[in-house]
Amino acid sequence: MRVVLVGPPGAGKGTQAQFIASHLAIPKVSTGDIFRYNVSAGTELGQQAKAFMDRGDLVPDEVTVAMVKSRLAEDDAQSGFLLDGFPRNVPQAETLKKILADWGLKLELVLELVVDHDEVIRRLSGRRTCRKCGRNWHIAFDPPSVADKCDECGGELFQRDDDREETIRHRLEVYQEQTQPLISYYAGEGILLGIDATGPVDDVTERALLALRRFVR
Ligand code: AP5
Repeated sequence: MRVVLVGPPGAGKGTQAQFIASHLAIPKVSTGDIFRYNVSAGTELGQQAKAFMDRGDLVPDEVTVAMVKSRLAEDDAQSGFLLDGFPRNVPQAETLKKILADWGLKLELVLELVVDHDEVIRRLSGRRTCRKCGRNWHIAFDPPSVADKCDECGGELFQRDDDREETIRHRLEVYQEQTQPLISYYAGEGILLGIDATGPVDDVTERALLALRRFVR
């Protein structure tokens, strides 16, 4: 199955992507995670992306699209994938459509995580990420049993540079201006499904899996 997760920063895309991808036995392809990995590894791609990410701006389309195309061409993505954080604007969506069409494929579902503005601020300002395995925690909603230490791998938790208040505000503006138009774009394609992404993580996962079962007959 080929699925896209869309929603504002902090909607819970990364959190839900791991459960949905593992349920569907398809790889999760997160552009944010790939960029962050390259930034910390000091690669050329990471150097190209870092300044944009630190400001909360989108990394230029040509860089992002080339990276996604090469990831989707890998063996494990041949029977499907879950995209988290891509596409992020209508030109990226159109390019993805063309890439898939060239391969004789198309997207089957775009799942929108619907959360209000105040909730995303609460989620992002309390997020902590594991340096070792990348798992996200939240100091109030999903705290680890020992402060600043990942329960799953023992790694150190840190706050993302782009989770500072002024950068969060800018990322939300970028979402409104550039990513929100994807909602009507995919509604027009007849493959958009929105779910309420508030409440406990398990409840959101259940709603997402139910939506997937209803959509894919
Ligand atoms: P990216 O990493 O994609 O950031 P984002 O879209 O802003 O999304 P986030 O990772 O901030 O949030 P999320 O929705 O995954 O929420 P999470 O599950 O962590 O992108 C980062 C940057 O990379 C961009 O700004 C851009 O520069 C660049 N980039 C990436 N893709 C690009 C593209 N296609 N084109 C150009 N540039 C690109 O949850 C947040 C917190 O809430 C966590 O603490 C979690 O524990 C908690 N939480 C989750 N669910 C719940 C719940 N149900 N209840 C309570 N708390 C919850």
